[in-house]
Amino acid sequence: MLKNKKILLGITGGVAAYKAVDLIRRLKDDGASVTVIMTDASKNFITPLSLQIASGSKVYSGLFEDPMSHIELSRDADLMLIAPATANIIGKFANGIADDLLSTCILSFRGKVVIAPSMNWRMYENPMVQGNLKRLTAHGILQVGPDKGTLACGEEGVGRMAEVNEITEAVKSALSKKDLSKKKVIVTGGPTREYLDPVRFISNRSSGKMGYAVAGECIRRGAEVILISGPSALQAPKGLKAFFKVETAGEMREAVFKNLSKTDIVIMAAAPADFSPEKKENIKIGKSEKLSIKFKNTPDIIAEIGKLKRRPLLVGFAAETGKRLDRARAKRTRKGADIIVFNDVTEAGSGFDVDTNKITIIEKNKETPLPMMTKYKAAEAIMDVVSECLSK
Ligand SMILES: Cc1cc2nc3c(=O)[nH]c(=O)nc-3n(C[C@H](O)[C@H](O)[C@H](O)COP(=O)(O)O)c2cc1C
Repeated sequence: MLKNKKILLGITGGVAAYKAVDLIRRLKDDGASVTVIMTDASKNFITPLSLQIASGSKVYSGLFEDPMSHIELSRDADLMLIAPATANIIGKFANGIADDLLSTCILSFRGKVVIAPSMNWRMYENPMVQGNLKRLTAHGILQVGPDKGTLACGEEGVGRMAEVNEITEAVKSALSKKDLSKKKVIVTGGPTREYLDPVRFISNRSSGKMGYAVAGECIRRGAEVILISGPSALQAPKGLKAFFKVETAGEMREAVFKNLSKTDIVIMAAAPADFSPEKKENIKIGKSEKLSIKFKNTPDIIAEIGKLKRRPLLVGFAAETGKRLDRARAKRTRKGADIIVFNDVTEAGSGFDVDTNKITIIEKNKETPLPMMTKYKAAEAIMDVVSECLSK
């Protein structure tokens, strides 16, 4: 997601500096190139050599070592990230002080800046630090964290640097287009469970990965997102407007319709069980009984939305066993959806419970077949098409 993005990472003299190696690795895994600037104080916490090895490039520090580096480094970067950001660098940045390479680069940089403050809670709560942070926010500087927890000094409080995945998410969000700003989106994800008795249910292999990736992508693009999820082991993306956990298709339907008014986009990435037992037993069915179960259809949520007179832009998924694009096309028309995302769940690496997917995005007059890609990339591609539809 950060392919071809150049990130200038400033590391300052806080205890959390040791997390920089992990942070660099994560940013690079996402495709970014990372150039590091260290303050002198930070070298007490982590060595330049470790950061050179992690980033795979020269680590900068001295203002006069490379006379034009303070201009060249910041001119070439897409984003500046300061993690950890000490009270000192926050104070210098907020007051326009440029007395070393990092603080000078920050002032000469024209792009998005993300800071991840990290310090003792007393320092963080100090009105001077708070005032400086407010000033930076007012100037469009993006802040991630700090989190609450046990601090290096052993005390509890707000001051821990945000987790590495939170910081990488903030970087991705800062670099994302904001084409869904102010749009209200409902995303469903995961499977549903239809109970036979209090302990047994039928379900399917959906993990929720596709739906959660779509929800995260919508948040990054500035949308107000409600995620309605069946049982899933995944952590909900940060920044959701609301998160509803449901179990059955009936509960999913109820949650969708409760939140539907004024929604601009509905993305039904969930895999509700299509059938539920006609009768749910109130007590556990005994082992010795010969069992024959009659099923009925669960509510067809997407078709119900498709029939509404005034309805949001509607995106459905067709998980097929085989290359049944014909079935996916027919589903789009039958359900009254604008877009159907087709995938063949029998193809290796595509569909349920894997991190990748091979999809074809089907619109009324256009089909976009895509190669195998991560579900995050697939979510990006789906939202590109959705955004294009909205702008028509
Ligand atoms: C052991 C130790 C840990 C420190 N941890 C932090 C910290 O987590 N956050 C912070 O703002 N300052 C911390 N400081 C203070 C900074 O290192 C100090 O303010 C320094 O001037 C920061 O310089 P820099 O912002 O140029 O890196 C710590 C100091 C010491 C001695």
